[in-house]
Amino acid sequence: MDLIVGNWKMNLGGRDSLQLIEGILERLKKPIPGEAVICPPATALFMAGDRVKETPLQLGCQNVFYENKGAYTGEISPEFAREAGSRYAIIGHSERRQFFSEGPEINRKIEAVLNLGMTPILCVGESLEQRDGGNAWSVVKDQLKQGLQGISTEKLSGLAIAYEPVWAIGTGKTASPEDAREMASRIIEELHHLQGLRVLYGGSVKPGNISDFMSLAEINGALVGGASLKADSFAKLIYWEK
Ligand code: PGA
Repeated sequence: MDLIVGNWKMNLGGRDSLQLIEGILERLKKPIPGEAVICPPATALFMAGDRVKETPLQLGCQNVFYENKGAYTGEISPEFAREAGSRYAIIGHSERRQFFSEGPEINRKIEAVLNLGMTPILCVGESLEQRDGGNAWSVVKDQLKQGLQGISTEKLSGLAIAYEPVWAIGTGKTASPEDAREMASRIIEELHHLQGLRVLYGGSVKPGNISDFMSLAEINGALVGGASLKADSFAKLIYWEK
């Protein structure tokens, strides 16, 4: 099933998050064609989780730590994120890699999320320099390996991978559908042993271009930043049409 995920990043507090949820729900009168997930900031997670219960919207978190409890000041417990209602967790977003130097711990985060029965959305993607140097696939392949190594095939069933070229995030530039298709098919080939794998595209997705990506057989969803912050455009993304 298609998976449309709104990554609100650090843009909305509790009140604004609730307001946006109301706006989206008002626009979801007819049945939604796939799954729609919102990922508010951690401080809004619990309230958002309460509000979306028994609605077509599902909840995800933008990041978690790899331990559930303990002396880890300031971290987000995967168990608490799930308690708030999260069923999905974005892991290894390029902004986490860039600003918080995330790398090796991504693997433990993926495992922690899976242990709680949540679905991780592992983000991978190359920089412009890496693409221009012809290294896009080797970078993505390494990120997949680093993120997933040592985790059993059974545990990983239902995993989502978001291919987000770093140069396309928040820039208004997108990968060409052909490049996105090629990368998605390599990811699928690499992870062919996983059941129920979904590959999402992310990077400047908006109502005007979502069908370029979603109509590709290899791509089953979108991870959306900027265009998920307005009720109107997020609803349009949920009801995208070929
Ligand atoms: P964008 O962000 O849609 O604003 O490019 C995507 C993301 O970072 O997940």
